[in-house]
Amino acid sequence: MKASRVKRFGILTSGGDCPGLNAAIRGVAKAASGRFGMEVVGISNGYRGLIDGDARALSQDDFSGILTLGGTILGSSREKPFKKFDGSTSSDSEAGKNKPELIMRNVEALGLDALVVLGGNGTNTTAHLLAQEGLSVIGLPKTIDNDIWGTEVSFGFHSAVDIATESIDRLHSTASSHNRVMVIELMGHKTGWLALYAGVAGGGDVIIIPELPYSVAKVASGLERRRAEGKHFSIVVVAEGAMSAEEAALPKKERKLRRESMPYPSIGYRLAAEIEKATGMEARVTVLGYLQRGGTPSPYDRVLATAFGTAAAELLEQGRFGRMVAMRDGRIDTIPLADVADRIQTVPTDHPLIGTARLVGTCFGNS
Ligand code: F6P
Repeated sequence: MKASRVKRFGILTSGGDCPGLNAAIRGVAKAASGRFGMEVVGISNGYRGLIDGDARALSQDDFSGILTLGGTILGSSREKPFKKFDGSTSSDSEAGKNKPELIMRNVEALGLDALVVLGGNGTNTTAHLLAQEGLSVIGLPKTIDNDIWGTEVSFGFHSAVDIATESIDRLHSTASSHNRVMVIELMGHKTGWLALYAGVAGGGDVIIIPELPYSVAKVASGLERRRAEGKHFSIVVVAEGAMSAEEAALPKKERKLRRESMPYPSIGYRLAAEIEKATGMEARVTVLGYLQRGGTPSPYDRVLATAFGTAAAELLEQGRFGRMVAMRDGRIDTIPLADVADRIQTVPTDHPLIGTARLVGTCFGNS
């Protein structure tokens, strides 16, 4: 066994869960303990466990049989320890002011030389802030949204694309039997990666993503064009963060207020109502929700999570901190956490897949 600078490190999963988290934990831990002889401490429920000192030493048994398991054996939370106390939300508390300090104390009390954090934008931003406080931190990119800056792909994304695509495939049955417009709303937070990929894979006739604000008239003319061609059903794939061109022109706060005043639970319902009104076609809504985050990771995500996880173990062994493991130019690489923090990766409006989809007749509702 090789001697290493890091003897004992903590690992946590933070933010929304996704397929591949356990595969990544296994990759980090098997390489770090089996290959490099480090001790692994599992921190419960994301950064909350670090604040509360809720952690336990993990053994080889903990890493066996988890490659295919959904969710995270460590638990997760959306705890943001650096969130400023201003009394404006109910989750703020006086105690919250000391969270970074509590973390520093617990890292020392637990005897951790380093931290490996698995998460999305918020998690890696917090990782950067902890690194600035002096901790040795390594980030790993996970999210079904694929919106983390600096990596071409994050684990969890392709499993979610698989689930969403299968759902679109199944919607085709009822769409064609009943001559309906089926609107399927997918996750993706503020970006359209998931809707774009699943939409293209599932042959969506209309794909609406936040990066290309839509006009109802253009969506309607896309659907009417299909009807004129004798196609009496359509599949509309909409990202949860999608917005109309009119909304996109508004300042963020105003847009939010306007959304909240509308009588629809989400964009999918609103779009279906707009389509019915504009075309007279019968529209139905499916909101896929958390099904996109559940269950076993796809083979692609198992491979990616294992490769990212073992790369993190190598960074620990080399003593290279303040970095996130990333996919760049199709290769496993790293990027400074400082570059990742406070940024998101949206779909470029000239993304080649948008061009591909347009060539097969997909309408994006914006032109
Ligand atoms: O980031 C993953 C994600 O599922 C987003 O797609 C979605 O907007 C959000 O998390 C939902 O968050 P929560 O789990 O807090 O409801």
